[in-house]
Amino acid sequence: MGWIVIIVLVLAGVVAYDLTQTKHAILRNFPIIGHFRYWLETIGPELRQYIVTNNDEERPFSRDQRRWVYASAKKENNYFGFGTDNEVELASNYLIIKHATFPYRPPKPHNATEASLHPVPVAKVLGGWRDRRKKFRPASIINVSAMSFGSLSSAAIMALNRGCAQSGCLHNTGEGGISPHHDQGGGLVYQLGTGYFGARSADGNLDIDKLVETAERFNVRAIEIKLSQGAKPGKGGVLPGAKVTPEIAKIRGIPEGVDCLSPAYHRAFSSPDELLDVVERIADATGVPVGIKAAVGDLGFWHELARLMSETDRGVDYIQIDGGEGGTGAAPLVFSDHVALPFLVGFSRVYPIFAEAGLSDKIVFVGSGKLGFPERAVLAMALGCDMVMVAREAMLAIGCIQAQKCETGHCPTGVATQNKWLVRGLDPTNKANRLANYMATFRHDMGQLANACGLAHPSGFTLDHVEILDGRFGSASAREVFKYQPGWGLPSEADSAALLAELGLAAAAAK
Ligand SMILES: Cc1cc2nc3c(=O)[nH]c(=O)nc-3n(C[C@H](O)[C@H](O)[C@H](O)COP(=O)(O)O)c2cc1C
Repeated sequence: MGWIVIIVLVLAGVVAYDLTQTKHAILRNFPIIGHFRYWLETIGPELRQYIVTNNDEERPFSRDQRRWVYASAKKENNYFGFGTDNEVELASNYLIIKHATFPYRPPKPHNATEASLHPVPVAKVLGGWRDRRKKFRPASIINVSAMSFGSLSSAAIMALNRGCAQSGCLHNTGEGGISPHHDQGGGLVYQLGTGYFGARSADGNLDIDKLVETAERFNVRAIEIKLSQGAKPGKGGVLPGAKVTPEIAKIRGIPEGVDCLSPAYHRAFSSPDELLDVVERIADATGVPVGIKAAVGDLGFWHELARLMSETDRGVDYIQIDGGEGGTGAAPLVFSDHVALPFLVGFSRVYPIFAEAGLSDKIVFVGSGKLGFPERAVLAMALGCDMVMVAREAMLAIGCIQAQKCETGHCPTGVATQNKWLVRGLDPTNKANRLANYMATFRHDMGQLANACGLAHPSGFTLDHVEILDGRFGSASAREVFKYQPGWGLPSEADSAALLAELGLAAAAAK
């Protein structure tokens, strides 16, 4: 009898601890049972060695990739011992970054406080070419891609925004409008989807006065017109009714508990020409740079946009290309799996159109689609991206375990749900630190890779720095694969010089 009382007391103590601690969302939401996850995780490698999967299986993100994000976010040792477990020579499309014999030697040691955040600013000034009133140099080459409050929880949005504030990253609001949870100090990219939430007239059209009001009320640094998203291009958005709480209904101006559908098309424009007019109107009214986000399908739009931008006095300040492999809160399988080109294919078709039109130095290029890992980000930058946006990798950093239940409202970690009990498990302060750590570690790795290749800054990567193995003991340089001309993918000499001068760095390695 005495033993039973002791066991009950111990269990009650564990429950009390689990419910009140703020580090682990799983334990807060599933006291006691949650501990099994950690125990199983500890013996996972041994179990997997015999029965389940290896470190590079599981999608969208492999165990190795998730482990790297988790370890970086916790500032734990993210080194991998004993050498690679990849069959490097036998793998096809395997990326190799080619280091220099003599790595870059920085001319001065970093300031210690700065160094802990590993700031790596963007080589171009956003809005510089069109001379927007509130143009600025983004402080981080890695930023958080669009995910709305609605598809993510209030606690997750708070964690992302605070983490962005700490690490100097931009935080894209997603198409669901701006909520008070977005207002935690992090700079916002305010996304306008077809629902124009937060800037919507009674008949569902874009209302510029409301847009200005919203942009001025919050810390909006840039505005993004979402043309499409890799996971569901041409589909419009759907927020399942289960996630349309009274709060979300109020922010968006829609009925509670009912599926919220954003149309597939924009009411404010229906051609590249009209799009450019809207971009200029928004930029004039708000003063902030205005960009577009799109997945790549038909190339006609991009040719026409480049032509109009070269021939008229109008232009977008940035272009974000989202890969078909990108994430979503909810989409039909066929759209996720089969519509829109993957990032590497899509981006490498669009960038040359603007390079050939002489516009690539003027536009900030942004990439997304599983780019939250250094080797993928290096290739993206070599292809011409000035910065990359990460969505699901940021979710992993704040505790997502890739349960792939975003569309059900039952996300066990409180990241992609509106269930109050589950959301309570996610402590925004603790997870904000995790996001900031992930960003800092990621930038640190990018800086180290650049230095290993003899470069002062990751913007110097070109396709000559990357080789792609073919799985048959052969390989090709990325330049051959993507058919890029010399000079493509790099910022202009003037932009590079201005960046390095700001950072106090020399272009070439110090002797
Ligand atoms: C839960 C979730 C919600 C998203 N919501 C939006 C959105 O509102 N607008 C948008 O343009 N993209 C949205 N995306 C797509 C991401 O912004 C990003 O483009 C895509 O996931 C690729 O990045 P990743 O591979 O790093 O996740 C969402 C993605 C996820 C996972």
